[in-house]
Amino acid sequence: MKLIDLITAQSARLKTAGVSFGHGTTNAFDEAAWLVLWALGMEPGELEAKAQREVGDDEHARAEALVTQRIVSRRPAAYLTHEAWLQNVPFYVDERTIVPRSFIAELLADAENEGTLDAWLTDRTQRVLDLCTGNGSLAVIAAMAYPEITVDACDISQDALAVAHINVERHALSARITLLQSDLFANVRGPYDLIVCNPPYVNAASMALLPPEYRAEPALALAGGSDGMDLVRRILADAPAQMSDEAVLVLEIGNERRHFERAHPRLEVAWLPTSAGDDQVLLVTRDALLRHRRAAR
Ligand SMILES: C[S@@+](CC[C@H](N)C(=O)[O-])C[C@H]1O[C@@H](n2cnc3c(N)ncnc32)[C@H](O)[C@@H]1O
Repeated sequence: MKLIDLITAQSARLKTAGVSFGHGTTNAFDEAAWLVLWALGMEPGELEAKAQREVGDDEHARAEALVTQRIVSRRPAAYLTHEAWLQNVPFYVDERTIVPRSFIAELLADAENEGTLDAWLTDRTQRVLDLCTGNGSLAVIAAMAYPEITVDACDISQDALAVAHINVERHALSARITLLQSDLFANVRGPYDLIVCNPPYVNAASMALLPPEYRAEPALALAGGSDGMDLVRRILADAPAQMSDEAVLVLEIGNERRHFERAHPRLEVAWLPTSAGDDQVLLVTRDALLRHRRAAR
């Protein structure tokens, strides 16, 4: 059998089984390609050149077994392969942290093309905080995109920080990324010029409906209370004290724009377009946070 036919067949199995996507892929074919290539010891980028290569019986059996494991366990592919890719950067992953997929990564990686985020940064953007760093992916991608910055990356979970440590070491960035255990801003060392944050923001009703793949991830990384905004409220209240004068906060809120706007109806934010749409990631300046606080008094 040819490689492309094996992937197509495994893709059909995933579809029939009704597994959920969203942890690095959005459809059955891409998920099957990931699992099959990994089982064959191939890199994700090799498919195009090697699609017509013959697959041996052993290889076929290995790939099929991995897809079976994916179907039976309903765990995200990255927990089976212990590897996930974000913006073409590989990350180690296991159940101690969520699978990297933040749309903030697109905005950071776009820096090389002077993308959306650059309009909000200055030559003085040097100190960056990755709040709720989890697997460390945003800290690593930020450090790669902006060679002149240093990053503090914090998380409340020691387990998540252990995974972030593996990723920081893997990309030889320990001289520029410092990992800190911190309940939000409690132990951080501001002021920072840029804060990026993909916090837990899933509301309670959505948490109750999550497919098994999402329930395999730490609830601490996803659950944001009844309207999803528990952590976001604390972040917006405490951020200004850790921001330099011209600093900005880039915050992912997923599908929770309705809840965000209900919780902060008068806060001036800029919505940053990503491949998921233009209402998943927002940017707010320190000035806007302070104005909002004054107006609320
Ligand atoms: C949605 S995950 C984001 C992980 C990573 N930044 C990413 O985008 O893949 C949220 C992270 O927030 C952490 N977290 C939850 N509550 C926290 C708190 N009070 N203070 C700091 N981190 C917290 C969780 O442990 C989890 O790693």
